[in-house]
Amino acid sequence: MQRQLHDRLKDAILAGRLAPGCLLPGSRALAEALSISRNTVTAAYNLLAVEGYVQPDRKGTRVATLIRPPSRARRAAQPAVPLPARLARIQSTVPPAEAGLALRPGVPALSHFPLADWRRAIDRAIHRAGSSALGYGDPLGEPALRTSIANYLSLARGVRCDPALVVITEGAQEALLLCVRLLTNPGDIAWIEDPGYRGAKAAMHSGDLRIVPKQVDADGLMVTEKDWRSQPPSLIYTTPSHQYPAGAVLSVARRLELIANARRHRTWIIEDDYDSEYRHVGAPIGAMQGLVDQAPVLYVGTFSKTMFPSLRLGFLVLPEALIAQMREPLTEILRGGHRYEQLALAEFIDSGEFSRHLSRMRRLYRDRQHSLREALTQHMRVPHVIEGGNCGLHLTMRLPAQYPDRAIADAAQRHGLAPAALSSFALQPRSQHNGLVLGYGNTSAELFSPMIRRLSQITLGAKVS
Ligand SMILES: Cc1ncc(COP(=O)(O)O)c(C=O)c1O
Repeated sequence: MQRQLHDRLKDAILAGRLAPGCLLPGSRALAEALSISRNTVTAAYNLLAVEGYVQPDRKGTRVATLIRPPSRARRAAQPAVPLPARLARIQSTVPPAEAGLALRPGVPALSHFPLADWRRAIDRAIHRAGSSALGYGDPLGEPALRTSIANYLSLARGVRCDPALVVITEGAQEALLLCVRLLTNPGDIAWIEDPGYRGAKAAMHSGDLRIVPKQVDADGLMVTEKDWRSQPPSLIYTTPSHQYPAGAVLSVARRLELIANARRHRTWIIEDDYDSEYRHVGAPIGAMQGLVDQAPVLYVGTFSKTMFPSLRLGFLVLPEALIAQMREPLTEILRGGHRYEQLALAEFIDSGEFSRHLSRMRRLYRDRQHSLREALTQHMRVPHVIEGGNCGLHLTMRLPAQYPDRAIADAAQRHGLAPAALSSFALQPRSQHNGLVLGYGNTSAELFSPMIRRLSQITLGAKVS
């Protein structure tokens, strides 16, 4: 009763039905009129007074003078707040999540994830840590997970790494945002691969950086001496083990050159090593970070492909030269969360379940890629060139310019297919950036034939003269 009376009076005051300065009825009179107890009225008045809706004075209880929110009609007419320029530059070309996931790049085989094992690992983490892990954790991440990751990276990726250098993040995306925040000022120059990862572009935009696209060829990121002389950047974003999305491996000559020039110009390199666990051809390619001692490289990794995307766990390995300086700001910026997931993941890695899962997935993806290539050979009736495939979860198919990739990707979505247009990854679209990025991670092999037949029809139908 007290709450109802309070709410009615508050609404009347906010709507202006009870004008500023007017006296409310005395508590006794109102209690009698409403047949409720006087205590109820007094309690409601008291609460309104504490909140500042009314002010008691010698004569009684008066409605306070408030700047009321505009009416709904006036609110609707108010112009939306303009986006800050750095955010307005971020344009999404990603298909909405509810779109069919078939052929969508970047998604691992969700139905093959060992969910029951993961549930047991989570249960064990909760059982072992008990309620102590409900509180904030180490802002840089659970020590157990940082140790597991450091061990794993030194063995599997040749990363020079100590647990103290590892920062646990919400996926690779938060790691990229942190690199921008920690190392740049607005207006600084950032080089990024073109075509390249949209998440990296968005991270650079959000820091108001001047993005300079750098082309890629069969040896990965192309940078000339002239580029270094004329526009040395603060930050370089690269995917050296598996260029996203074109698929090249950055040659060792270019890696060494990039590191040497970065040292000379005090540039930091972000190495995004997002899916190199799934190497399908030849020996694994070591990380650029481990190529030389004290490389000016921030190594970024993610569990989105090796585990599952909604886990939202990734990591950043800071160069030794930065950790002393960065520990304090990082400790203030970050909060240690997802603690049970982090502890479960540490156990998953240490017990060998992670490696076993990766081996199974590597076989599955190799088979899926093989089936996708066969389906393309048999059913794709448009001239095309397939690139990539030595690694990861996608193939890139270049198409002649008269088959515009965005029109094909849009039409494909209406048929439940979600390949990405290659040109949507390009900063300076060129004719060779026309094609489709075909994800095979989360699509069953037997579906490729009918899907590619359909995609071939869609592509033919999208032809412009
Ligand atoms: C190049 C690249 N980096 C990183 C990621 C993973 O990002 P996150 O860990 O934020 O899910 C992806 C996912 O598609 C990617 O393609």
